[in-house]
Amino acid sequence: MFDLITIIFLGLIVILVFFFTILSFWSFFIVRVPFVPFSRKKIEKILGFLNLEADRKIYDLGCGDGRVLKMAYERFGVRGIGFEINPLAYLLAKIGTWQYRQKIKIYRQNFLKICLGEPDYVFIYLFPGAMAELERKLLAEIKKPCQIISFIFYFPNLKPTKILEIKTGSKIEKVFVYSLND
Ligand SMILES: C[S@@+](CC[C@H](N)C(=O)[O-])C[C@H]1O[C@@H](n2cnc3c(N)ncnc32)[C@H](O)[C@@H]1O
Repeated sequence: MFDLITIIFLGLIVILVFFFTILSFWSFFIVRVPFVPFSRKKIEKILGFLNLEADRKIYDLGCGDGRVLKMAYERFGVRGIGFEINPLAYLLAKIGTWQYRQKIKIYRQNFLKICLGEPDYVFIYLFPGAMAELERKLLAEIKKPCQIISFIFYFPNLKPTKILEIKTGSKIEKVFVYSLND
């Protein structure tokens, strides 16, 4: 038989799992893109292909827990700026990049509602429904040369300058690289 303490303990675990699931899908209800963290091995492969230059600025639009920005800084010395709407992902990103807080800034903001400024690189791993609006925004706001790297999903109009393929077992995933204002 379960005693009272076991029942309370199990109840707390169920509440915690429920709470974290709701928070993870928060962004799906708001912007139709869930928080799906990216495999570190794939990030390493993609960043390795791109020849990132130290002291340049990379944005991750929908930065999740900040792992792309963290790796870009650790491996290539690229300064990072991340925007994240999901409170749980934002908190994880803040904690995960805290040691590099002078070089990596994380904002809890909808990136569609801010002016993008002047990134040298933009990384995105979003969903098909988000790509058209973001394409219009990038074209309207980014005025200097910038490389955009999109994992899996492509823009409806822009032509990629490179398409990389990442092989994991029998699965091949594409990375679309775009050059703006070259
Ligand atoms: C598929 S996850 C990718 C996370 C991270 N870029 C990575 O590769 O590990 C997409 C993230 O984008 C965030 N997101 C989607 N639309 C957003 C928006 N308009 N503003 C801010 N964050 C957004 C979601 O909350 C989610 O965490």
